[in-house]
Amino acid sequence: MEQRTYVMIKPDGVARGLVGRIVGRIEDVGLAVERMELTSLTREQAAANYAEHEGKPFYEDLVGYVTSGPVVKMVVAGEEAVGIVRKLMGATDPRDAAPGTIRGDFGLSLDANIVHGSDSPASAEREIAIFFGA
Ligand code: RTP
Ligand code: MG
Repeated sequence: MEQRTYVMIKPDGVARGLVGRIVGRIEDVGLAVERMELTSLTREQAAANYAEHEGKPFYEDLVGYVTSGPVVKMVVAGEEAVGIVRKLMGATDPRDAAPGTIRGDFGLSLDANIVHGSDSPASAEREIAIFFGA
């Protein structure tokens, strides 16, 4: 099924100069970058994106981290785009992420794990509205 997903290169990925390589991996598997912008997130946007984690012990650090510097936000489209991007990203903790995945190859820690991708088509729709408008 043709899908859209929200992908964000987190501050550590931008700071370490990984934007081109990450976008390349997305394009290599035939997905298309439809929108892309270098920007800083407001606290409100970060809180809305991670609303499911509000109240968890890592929530404040997570919101602080993703607002700590510029990010690259994208809308990525293609066949099964949501799941394919999650597969390219690898496991949440880079120590568990397989070699060949973005987090497995570049991630340094659970916080500095380089990239965000929507976890379902419903999340994608919600996140694209938060970051790019309806
Ligand atoms: P993301 O939302 O950033 O794409 O990551 P994800 O789906 O793979 O993982 P998720 O469970 O949604 O967690 C969001 C981010 O919170 C941090 N985290 N810390 N200390 C902890 O136990 C913990 N668990 C998650 C990670 O940085 C993760 O990317
Ligand atoms: Mg998530």
